[in-house]
Amino acid sequence: MQTITTIAALNAAIEEAKNANKTIGLVPTMGALHEGHLSLIHKAREQNDLVVVSVFVNPIQFNNKEDLAKYPRTVEADCEKLSSAGADIAFVPSVEEMYPEPVNTVYHFGPIEEVMEGPRRPGHFSGVAVVVRRLFDLTKPNRAYFGEKDYQQIAIIRNLLEQIKYPIEIVPCPIVRAEDGLALSSRNMRLSAEARAVAPHIYATLQQAVEMSEVEDVETVHDFVIDTLSSFHEVNGLDENLKFEPEYFEIVNDTTLQPISDWKDAKGIVGCIAVWLTGVRLIDMVRFR
Ligand code: PAF
Repeated sequence: MQTITTIAALNAAIEEAKNANKTIGLVPTMGALHEGHLSLIHKAREQNDLVVVSVFVNPIQFNNKEDLAKYPRTVEADCEKLSSAGADIAFVPSVEEMYPEPVNTVYHFGPIEEVMEGPRRPGHFSGVAVVVRRLFDLTKPNRAYFGEKDYQQIAIIRNLLEQIKYPIEIVPCPIVRAEDGLALSSRNMRLSAEARAVAPHIYATLQQAVEMSEVEDVETVHDFVIDTLSSFHEVNGLDENLKFEPEYFEIVNDTTLQPISDWKDAKGIVGCIAVWLTGVRLIDMVRFR
């Protein structure tokens, strides 16, 4: 595996691959790699001649400075994992390399950014779009791989591609979970052992919600999730600091991402959640229909 830190070296490697008619798979990441990322790389490895993985903590997609400062950075361990997973190129640029000039571009995505993460993280999706477009421009991929844990992000990237009209196939990959059900996330590293032990109840509650959706209406299922998580510490006699604080739980059409009020409102329906636990923001999602 080649580790590349400059755009000039990346351009040369991509040109060489294009001249040899190789297909290119791009896996954009912010590092702190776990099995979830590795599943994207394995998929990319199956489907492309050249696999490029970017490792870049993109400052312009963080609306919260503390979150950016605390975001885990484990570049050496990441490169070892990438090499074992079969990546050909790890692209690890500095902030100055990616953004030599201040970024003024702002993307808009209409209704799909007005729900869930959108209003709570102002500027986040525009920042994601700027970096993803830049990575598309630099790596000229045939396919790009994204995890379904960030369900709304995939809709945003698809919308970006419609706006910029690049012929890139987006390959969504299912959430990878720990044995106890917790969705793998780089942020899990920041959980204490006690918080890590209660965190799987987010997914357990979502699974109960799916069962419940066979017999209960949308509002009841929604309220069940919020109430179960909010009262979890009390019901289980846990310390107040192990309280789940749900930021949102939205049951939405899986394509438009607009909230539904009846299970008959859409064919595909997913539930997306963001929950705070001991100062760590965890997200997860589940399919209802
Ligand atoms: O999902 C992520 O880790 C990031 O949002 C991405 C797509 C790598 C852009 O920085």
